Amino acid sequence: MINFSLLGAGRIGKMHAKIISAHPKANLKYVYDVNSKFSGLVAKSSKCKQASSPEQAIMSKEIDAVLIASATPTHTKFITMAAKAGKAIFCEKPIDLDIRKVNECFKKIKNIKVPIQIGFNRRFDNSHARAQQARMKKEIGELEMVVITSRDPEPPGINYLKAAGGFFRDTTIHDFDLTRFILGNDPVEKISAFGEALFDKNAKKQKDHDTAMFILKSKKGVLIHINNSRRAVYGYDQRVEVFGSKGMIISNNQTPSSVEKFSDKATNVKDPIHFFFIERYEQAYRDQFNEFIKCVVNKTKPKVNFEDGRNALIIANAAYESYKSGRVINIKF
Ligand SMILES: NC(=O)c1ccc[n+]([C@@H]2O[C@H](COP(=O)([O-])OP(=O)(O)OC[C@H]3O[C@@H](n4cnc5c(N)ncnc54)[C@H](O)[C@@H]3O)[C@@H](O)[C@H]2O)c1
Repeated sequence: MINFSLLGAGRIGKMHAKIISAHPKANLKYVYDVNSKFSGLVAKSSKCKQASSPEQAIMSKEIDAVLIASATPTHTKFITMAAKAGKAIFCEKPIDLDIRKVNECFKKIKNIKVPIQIGFNRRFDNSHARAQQARMKKEIGELEMVVITSRDPEPPGINYLKAAGGFFRDTTIHDFDLTRFILGNDPVEKISAFGEALFDKNAKKQKDHDTAMFILKSKKGVLIHINNSRRAVYGYDQRVEVFGSKGMIISNNQTPSSVEKFSDKATNVKDPIHFFFIERYEQAYRDQFNEFIKCVVNKTKPKVNFEDGRNALIIANAAYESYKSGRVINIKF
């Protein structure tokens, strides 16, 4: 049994608590959140102890692994503390918003041999992973284009925007990672980015974006298009198109059921697509955790590691450079 401490009992922390508790090889021992009301609720529902400090949650001898789901600026501190204490680490994306903090953290932990997995859950989605496999096995011949559509159902509140660190680093970072996943050993080399605040007053106030579009080019010349919105009235729009010389594979939107209604007004009417990430990526969140447990038990390297977290942030930084300068930026990892 692998004993866990959970740091952060907010939106995604609550979900992780349920996943840890439901796993046959994992046991949630401690939860810590600066807001003790939040950690109290998780402690009650998961029947675990409420830690009084991050040190207690991370350093305790009873603990084998930590799951970091607290606010982004806390991640590098908790990763460093956990690595030094010899604990296996699962950390939510992004590692941090500041590449200097990510590099400093890497320096401190690079010689410590503990598994570190970053929460790029979309790699574990069955459909996106199937599209990636099709590309790897050349089912669609030589890869030529990747098109990623990723749109949230509704914009977050101003407080979320204040802490999130900007649309590209908070949200598009998933799509930058998915791009790297699909391309495999063909690195992205160039990026051109546009961002606008077309409808969300909070985004405007924060000088952030609610709408964005990107074009990237890989070393082998594959062209990648990513488009993001913070508002899609029909739900959480998540589609990936992988196009090559012998065809195309699409990872499409999913509906809660597969029924279609036919009437005198319309035909083939489906249920609305999933509302947001917790529902849409339920299977992916579970399977990324299964993968982490396998790594801890079998002492193998995680498939999504610290370097992947760092590289996705480097692409997001290049995207901001392109947005600000209006130029195409060469990406240097
Ligand atoms: N992989 C995904 O799909 C996904 C989805 C959502 C969020 N995230 C990431 O997960 C992290 C949390 O996001 P969220 O949406 O749950 O945010 P949230 O604001 O709902 O929760 C964050 C929690 O961290 C707590 N916290 C703040 N400082 C802390 C500290 N010093 N020690 C302990 N707890 C502290 C807050 O009190 C809060 O409960 C972020 O890094 C975010 O980018 C990932």
